[in-house]
Amino acid sequence: MGVEYTMLGQSDIKVSRIGLGAWQFSQAWGVTEYEAAKKVIARALELGVNLIDTAIVYGRGMSETFIGRALKELGVKRDEVVIATKIPEEMLSYDDVFKATKRSLERLQTDYIDLMQVHWPPCWHNIPTCEYMRALERLLNLGLIRSIGLSDHPIALVEEARSCLARADVDVLQVRFNPVELEAEKTFIPYAEENDMSVLAWSPLAKGAVLGKYTIEEAEKLQDVRAGEPLFRPENYRQILEVADIIKEVASKLGKTPAQVALNWLISYSDVVIPIPGAKTPQQVEDNVGAMGWRLPKEDWLRIYEAARRVKITRVTY
Ligand SMILES: NC(=O)c1ccc[n+]([C@@H]2O[C@H](COP(=O)([O-])OP(=O)(O)OC[C@H]3O[C@@H](n4cnc5c(N)ncnc54)[C@H](OP(=O)(O)O)[C@@H]3O)[C@@H](O)[C@H]2O)c1
Repeated sequence: MGVEYTMLGQSDIKVSRIGLGAWQFSQAWGVTEYEAAKKVIARALELGVNLIDTAIVYGRGMSETFIGRALKELGVKRDEVVIATKIPEEMLSYDDVFKATKRSLERLQTDYIDLMQVHWPPCWHNIPTCEYMRALERLLNLGLIRSIGLSDHPIALVEEARSCLARADVDVLQVRFNPVELEAEKTFIPYAEENDMSVLAWSPLAKGAVLGKYTIEEAEKLQDVRAGEPLFRPENYRQILEVADIIKEVASKLGKTPAQVALNWLISYSDVVIPIPGAKTPQQVEDNVGAMGWRLPKEDWLRIYEAARRVKITRVTY
């Protein structure tokens, strides 16, 4: 398959244009059997996907533990994989950034993390931005992490965070971005383009919603992390299905799958965008990898864009 690669921000870290999201290895998404997770990881690496995005909070360490064990058992050389993880807001005091990183290194069975991200800004623990940014820069200088990313940080905070760093810079912004949730195009993507950063696009398939594989009734009954998710409420999901229908139509015309069209739409949006779809099976990985190595015809890309821009998601669901 035509796997494409790009560099993470201004770093020397080369990653596949589409990564693997590893939140799925948690109770939230249901892949809690190690062997099932190992098969997903193995298939991704076999096909040339080298970027794995995890986080400390995914299964409270379970996702990181599965990844570390799988990489060891599969005999993956350390430089064949790019591990991205994240520290949650409650662990951002200077000392906790060190402690959390040490624990992640143990779970991941490695001596460095390629991309350490702040999962979301401290909103309940009153930790000054420069406190955690300086801790991250120290970890970078020590070689315990190779690059810094900020997830779900508004641009004003990204600017503040960058001003705390003495010599390093932020290479990655991680944000929600998919064909029906386009908010990142207002500020994040232009900012990343201007500043040579990469954008790791989370929920690139809108948690599966843009694939239109669930009926309105089924979507309402999803029991995993999607229970209560606004995207799957009828008033939103009905609109999303209109985009999904176009994605399906384009897919069948081009001999691709809906996931391939949706992910290709994202990598075609900007060369800074790196989707990190979560996969629960090796088949989903294979499908998603097939989104690389070709480009949507412009008229199809625009058709999806026009439909996507008509979608007005509301999160006022009760
Ligand atoms: N930084 C943050 O705050 C943040 C937040 C959320 C996620 N993330 C990261 O982003 C990653 C992806 O986001 P996400 O998990 O929210 O959602 P997503 O990638 O948009 O959707 C993943 C789900 O879509 C379905 N799917 C995936 N590939 C498919 C295929 N080829 N065909 C059919 N169905 C397919 C699977 O669920 P079913 O088969 O059950 O339908 C899968 O669990 C996460 O794993 C995580 O690493 C980060």
